[in-house]
Amino acid sequence: MRPETLAIRTQTERTCEKEHSTPLFLTSSFVYDSAEDMAAAFEDDSLDVNIYSRFSNPSVDEFVKKVCLMEGAEDGIATATGMAAVFSSFMTFVSAGDHIVSASAVFGSTHAILTKYLPKWGVEYSYFDMNKPETIEGLIKKNTKLLYVETPSNPGLDIIDLKYVADLCKKHNILFIVDNCFATPAVQQPIQFGADLVLHSATKFMDGQGRVLGGVVVGKKDLIKQMYLFIRNTGPSMSPFNAWVLSKSLETLFVRMDKHAANALHIAQKLEGHPALSWVKYPFLQSHPHHSIAQKQMSNGGGILTFELKSGLEGGRKFLNNLKWLSMTNNLGDSRTIASHPASTTHSKLTEEERQAVGITPGLIRLSVGLEHPDDIVEEIIQALH
Ligand SMILES: Cc1ncc(COP(=O)(O)O)c(C=O)c1O
Repeated sequence: MRPETLAIRTQTERTCEKEHSTPLFLTSSFVYDSAEDMAAAFEDDSLDVNIYSRFSNPSVDEFVKKVCLMEGAEDGIATATGMAAVFSSFMTFVSAGDHIVSASAVFGSTHAILTKYLPKWGVEYSYFDMNKPETIEGLIKKNTKLLYVETPSNPGLDIIDLKYVADLCKKHNILFIVDNCFATPAVQQPIQFGADLVLHSATKFMDGQGRVLGGVVVGKKDLIKQMYLFIRNTGPSMSPFNAWVLSKSLETLFVRMDKHAANALHIAQKLEGHPALSWVKYPFLQSHPHHSIAQKQMSNGGGILTFELKSGLEGGRKFLNNLKWLSMTNNLGDSRTIASHPASTTHSKLTEEERQAVGITPGLIRLSVGLEHPDDIVEEIIQALH
């Protein structure tokens, strides 16, 4: 079966109730038939038996299995949030004295983990510019354990050639981890290009309606086994309820991503050249600096676009205040279109230089394009530009 069908037809084994839609296993723990079975479950970590929902749960397993099938991964593990997926991926594989090479254009909390928390445990990092991939190899040292990228990046929409980076990682025997949150597996499957682990904030397009938090990491079986033990013992596991919501959401991910992307491209084309804007950035616009890489590794441009207001920081605030119905919120990947102004909100505590380094210009507006009629969105944006 093809991934579109697998995302719909993969389901926990039907129970004696003969339910059509997938059941929700809202239970903290599971029972045993005998003391011997109970003892065996604790003796052998690899036994395929449910013990406690911090370790495993059928609703969570169903969600993970679908993501693995969609990403072409051997195995996976779900987490409470996207940040738990990022943090667990780092903590499982690095030790004091190790080094991480990462793109500088990463989500703000990932930046905080790399720059504030991991150094406290003796793990150092080096950043590279997504626009200068030729500088990556020079940063790899003897103690480099892993390389981390987001592509497209949040919020700068920078794109890096996954195959180029994967080949470098193989050459130097380091783990390659990709945050695939913006593209989703419906648009880009980094494992195809050589990534070892792929992670997501499932909170975004995977949910698609801004309801629950979640994260997931998929990849090689031996790596996921190590992560499983870390997560089982430290506790950032996904709740069964959230997994049930997310698994149902994956049934519509392909059709939603097609519509998000078609809307986003339409809006980007309508806005490009508007006199109030310095530029419009969208992976599938010809003017995107990495348009050809995007076309090589993504099946469409995804649901996020950005533009720069000529009126700068003040203009960004004014634009948000002029909106009549578009949502002003920090989430993304919703059926409702969302506008945010990183320089005055999520990234306001960075210095101007730090913002510039991650591509956040004063008048940058990030638009998470929803599923409304694209012309309604265009009209709403254009009226807010005046
Ligand atoms: C690219 C990216 N990675 C990770 C995260 C963190 O995800 P969560 O908010 O689910 O912890 C986000 C959140 O916006 C994100 O955009």
